[in-house]
Amino acid sequence: MPELSNLPTVPNVPNVTNVTNGAGTVAEETILSRLAKLRDAVVVVTGGGGLVGSRLVALLHRAGAHVTALDRMDAYPEAAHELFGVAKTGARLVVGDIRDRAVVGGLLKDADYVVHAAAYADVAACTRHPDIAFRANVEGTQVVLEQAAASRVRRLVLVSSASVYGDGVPDAEGPQRFLEDQSLFPLSVYANSKLWAEHQTRLMLAASSGTEYAVVRYFSVYGDPQIPKPGSHSWMVPWLAIHARLGKPMHLNGGGVQVRDLVHVDDVAEATALALIEEQMAERTVNVGTGVPTSVREVAELIAPYFPESRCVTTPRPEGDPLGGYACVERARELLRWQARISVPEGVDRYVRWLLATPHAVPRWLAEAAA
Ligand SMILES: NC(=O)c1ccc[n+]([C@@H]2O[C@H](COP(=O)([O-])OP(=O)(O)OC[C@H]3O[C@@H](n4cnc5c(N)ncnc54)[C@H](O)[C@@H]3O)[C@@H](O)[C@H]2O)c1
Repeated sequence: MPELSNLPTVPNVPNVTNVTNGAGTVAEETILSRLAKLRDAVVVVTGGGGLVGSRLVALLHRAGAHVTALDRMDAYPEAAHELFGVAKTGARLVVGDIRDRAVVGGLLKDADYVVHAAAYADVAACTRHPDIAFRANVEGTQVVLEQAAASRVRRLVLVSSASVYGDGVPDAEGPQRFLEDQSLFPLSVYANSKLWAEHQTRLMLAASSGTEYAVVRYFSVYGDPQIPKPGSHSWMVPWLAIHARLGKPMHLNGGGVQVRDLVHVDDVAEATALALIEEQMAERTVNVGTGVPTSVREVAELIAPYFPESRCVTTPRPEGDPLGGYACVERARELLRWQARISVPEGVDRYVRWLLATPHAVPRWLAEAAA
């Protein structure tokens, strides 16, 4: 196991700011000053106990909002929810289900803003259990939208996914760049449920409802303390890094040529918070990505130097594994006045250092499966 002090240095990438250095602190302060509009506002974040939700809750709390996270808190083993740390943010945590009208209505009646991030958020699990996906992502979303429309909520931000674009079709110029207004081809139960939620949000929160909406389409979110869910193969940064840490080969399906737009969870939290307040975002949909494609192989190559014994093994590409693509980020720059600040080399470096410093984060099921 490498010593933390002997780890490689992050390649020097232009335009990278690190939240632990001076430039990063300034950038965070800039975001917080823009979020000053949320001071004393009442904000409800559904799914606020999850990976993105907990980061968002912490940011909104730092911005001076009165934040309530509503979450079932059963998407991960208990220890993972502790790693995410929503209970330590100082925000209120309500353990409950978004399908519970009384709970959702009770929270939304006093809310100024809502971020609807709760979802059965695992593509493969949604395929295996479409009934659970339907209950959480469709029925649950319907309850949140009904209660938002019936309340005095000023704006609801719906968290959607780049999966609504479907498989990326590379051309001679490289991987596909996804534009917000292009045709959408959801190819999984999960993607279909997210697209349904987008349409239903638009239909239920029309101008007449008095509640504005905005839609954010996340690309591939990563960053500590992300760990795979039991039985999931999604989330390539943790998946590859944990295998390398366990001394197991990093499997590259189909040689690892598939690309993803890897966007750090801190950047995602900032974009989502800005979607609550940027006036131009009303009734608009934006991609939340970096605008840079990264292949699975490139991620493995970034992880490998931290684990000198690690090796990559090429395995067959599973049927349905999307070739992927990356975000067109122009609209996010224009409407959110935001762009991702954390490069993939820097984000992977942070992740691996966190993983090495937090050995208990490796889920038992994954250690046992790898053994
Ligand atoms: N992680 C990604 O790469 C990614 C990419 C695109 C979109 N998204 C979307 O971002 C949002 C957050 O995803 P995440 O990665 O943080 O996943 P996550 O699983 O960590 O968070 C989702 C949270 O929703 C909660 N939840 C699920 N069903 C619920 C219900 N019925 N009632 C109350 N709470 C419920 C879960 O307990 C979990 O804590 C989701 O809407 C997801 O679809 C994520």
